[in-house]
Amino acid sequence: MKLNAQQVKQFHEEGWLFLPDCFSPQEVETLRAEAEGIYSVDRPEVWREKSGAPRTAFAAHTYNEGFGILGRHPRLIEPVEQLFGEKLYMHQFKINAKAKFDGDVWQWHQDYGTWARDDGMPEPKAMNISVFLDEVFTFNGPLMIIPKSHKHGVLAAGHDKATTSYPLWTLDHETVEKLVDEGGLVVPVGKPGGVLMFHGNLVHGSAGNITPFSRKIVYLTLNAVSNYIRKPTRAEWIAHQDFTPIQPCADDALIRYAQSHKQAAE
Ligand code: SIN
Ligand code: MN
Repeated sequence: MKLNAQQVKQFHEEGWLFLPDCFSPQEVETLRAEAEGIYSVDRPEVWREKSGAPRTAFAAHTYNEGFGILGRHPRLIEPVEQLFGEKLYMHQFKINAKAKFDGDVWQWHQDYGTWARDDGMPEPKAMNISVFLDEVFTFNGPLMIIPKSHKHGVLAAGHDKATTSYPLWTLDHETVEKLVDEGGLVVPVGKPGGVLMFHGNLVHGSAGNITPFSRKIVYLTLNAVSNYIRKPTRAEWIAHQDFTPIQPCADDALIRYAQSHKQAAE
């Protein structure tokens, strides 16, 4: 799948792109159920909120067939290859839960700030491309993004290890206020199967979820192969060190997978 000229322009100018209905609800429904199964297992890759509710599950593409297919899906890989002009590998893969009633905040941050400081990634030539597994509403802790904030490079940040269970390089209020004055705030929402991609330096965050609607989103962090990480400090399953280029699967691989699982359950 290729982005058109207008989409490429929007990505460069605004720092983000939302593709509603990129996957059909049928293509993602099996993944939604499997994510719940993954959260229910006690393993180091599954991080929990302070309440014990699931927060994020790392590296499921390495041990779950459906998420493995998603991690090689041409509708995700090809647009990022197009923007970077080279092959990609998986730097990080996570299924963020934002659990109903208990999903906690993600403070304001830039992803590349973490990849540079914690992983030794040379350039912001990696990005998050995310797939909604649940419907994302304005009220169940959607991602909030600050358009154009990617143009500021890596901003000063403090390492917040206390607010949530997940250490994050976060931005101060003054910086966020200034960036929102300039660029405004956008909240992409929509049905399961929507896809949001955003520049590694785009400032974003999300509020807690006190509604009875969970908000699962899968994030693939795709890094240009030439931009492989030089100084890893985090576990391999958080910041991967297998720099093998991803070979995309067939476009219908996910629907076949969903159909075969449906048949098996019948
Ligand atoms: C992230 O920024 O890495 C995750 C934010 C979210 O899932 O709300
Ligand atoms: Mn982030």
